[in-house]
Amino acid sequence: MRLHWAIGSGLVCLTMAGCPTEPVATTDPTESTQLGVQPLGNLEGPRLGTNRTRQQDIVDGLLSLDELRAAGLKMFSVPFNQADGYGDGPMDPQDPTSPGGRPTLQDNGVFLRVNGLDAQSCLECHSVVSSATIPSTFGVGGVGGTAANVIAQPFFIDVADRDDAGFASLDGRFINPPFVFGAGGIELLAKEMTDELQGLLELARLNDGNWVRLGTKGVDFGLVRFQDGVLDASRVEGIEPDLVVRPFGRKGQFATVREFDREAMLFHFGMQPIEVVGANNDADGDGVMNEVLIGELSALHIFNTTLERPFQMELDEAGQRGAALFEAVGCSSCHLPSMTTDRRSLPLSYPEVHDDPFANVYYEVDLTAAAPGFEATPRGGVRVPLYSDLKRHDMGSGLAESTGREIDSFFITARLWGVADTAPYLHDGRAMTLTEAIEMHGGAGQKAADAFRGLSIAERGDLLEFLYTLRTPLEPAAGVEASP
Ligand code: HEC
Ligand code: HEC
Repeated sequence: MRLHWAIGSGLVCLTMAGCPTEPVATTDPTESTQLGVQPLGNLEGPRLGTNRTRQQDIVDGLLSLDELRAAGLKMFSVPFNQADGYGDGPMDPQDPTSPGGRPTLQDNGVFLRVNGLDAQSCLECHSVVSSATIPSTFGVGGVGGTAANVIAQPFFIDVADRDDAGFASLDGRFINPPFVFGAGGIELLAKEMTDELQGLLELARLNDGNWVRLGTKGVDFGLVRFQDGVLDASRVEGIEPDLVVRPFGRKGQFATVREFDREAMLFHFGMQPIEVVGANNDADGDGVMNEVLIGELSALHIFNTTLERPFQMELDEAGQRGAALFEAVGCSSCHLPSMTTDRRSLPLSYPEVHDDPFANVYYEVDLTAAAPGFEATPRGGVRVPLYSDLKRHDMGSGLAESTGREIDSFFITARLWGVADTAPYLHDGRAMTLTEAIEMHGGAGQKAADAFRGLSIAERGDLLEFLYTLRTPLEPAAGVEASP
């Protein structure tokens, strides 16, 4: 199993795919013949078809927002096949554990693949808009049930019960898919926070020897200083020492949706983005090159960040009492009800530079026009009622994953917007109800969980009433029609 270190950090990178891949400098191929692949026979060619989205066309403004969203919807929901580049080619004898760059596990001669191929489309795992209705309400970009959970980075899969536990078991990460709704507001918040933190880092650099407090948008990430020009990050909290806010992934490891989506293409499908392997390069030897174009990941990014945001129903009296209790017992210290951006447009970059989030911008998404639910504030930003501080917390041994790393018990504060509709709860979906999810908080969340337990039944009911008002959008991708 590959182990990588996150860029500029002391924490082992524990993303689903092992580690965010480093993009390579490249451009989309211009010849359509370079996209042509052998049809599988009898009219069955690539599901992506020949009408592909190139980055240059986006840069040149040849595609409307609706066309881009439609192209992104296609990337999100098309079931890829071999003619698209789905899967890996033959095993490289020199590198038997990483076909297509996706690490696998060798256990006593048994070859196990646990990190895909696990689906044909993003939609297979992100498809439940509300599990509060019966039957569930399905739609694009939603959560997944337990069947859609991902098993990532196990070191040990004990199917034959060699450890005599009495049952088959595995370690590593078991992760339930969250929804993508409102991602545009989350990404914009994170970029502005990163920008501010980088400014504070520079301030510390200029004031060698002095601690600088890392506060942004009401969130405190601790203190930083330089000593004789050397970074001292020992008092930085809830974020990597590079001070890049990474809101995506349950561990808080991806700075942007694009970074996540690139990984998802590789990890789940063996679809190789050319920004990872280069243009006109069949890196996995499956007979297909240019599997995912730069423009196609851009379209996917635009689609994901223009999904409607979750909303809050009006609070009745019980809900108002519940909201007050949410504050009083300490939930809101992590589940910060809302943050506000300074601008209303989300800048999209290629290539992305995570510690310089406004570099290389090729497109701007005006969230107030493109992502339903976001409204301009009088100061020209948007309010993002996310119920999170976008910070990592140690949630204790009970919730810890088991990869054997320090980060195992750390999670980014789950965003509670939409939480009424998204059971099962917690990173692996172990909690079926909100009460279970709250009572399972350990570590830094233990005090609040105990305070919740200490409430009267009527008070707990009020707090739940309040959580029930946090709803997912009914039609998160309304208005987007997939292109053929
Ligand atoms: C096999 C199921 C599965 C498939 C297929 C899948 N995902 Fe996911 N997705 C997950 C899981 C599990 C997570 C949580 C990952 C983590 O915590 O690191 C996730 C998280 C995400 C996130 C981060 C959301 C957040 O708020 O943190 C995005 C964005 C995302 N997926 C997009 C995609 C896209 C785009 C595709 C297709 C290219 C895709 N996913 C395919 C299971 C899946
Ligand atoms: C120390 C920070 C912290 C405090 C305080 C805290 N939480 Fe959380 N909460 C988290 C984190 C981190 C997670 C994600 C844990 C995981 O996925 O395993 C979470 C998850 C949740 C979830 C599950 C959400 C989902 O979509 O899976 C709910 C519900 C929740 N918290 C409610 C509350 C309530 C109510 C309180 C107050 C009683 C509270 N939390 C206090 C950090 C906190």
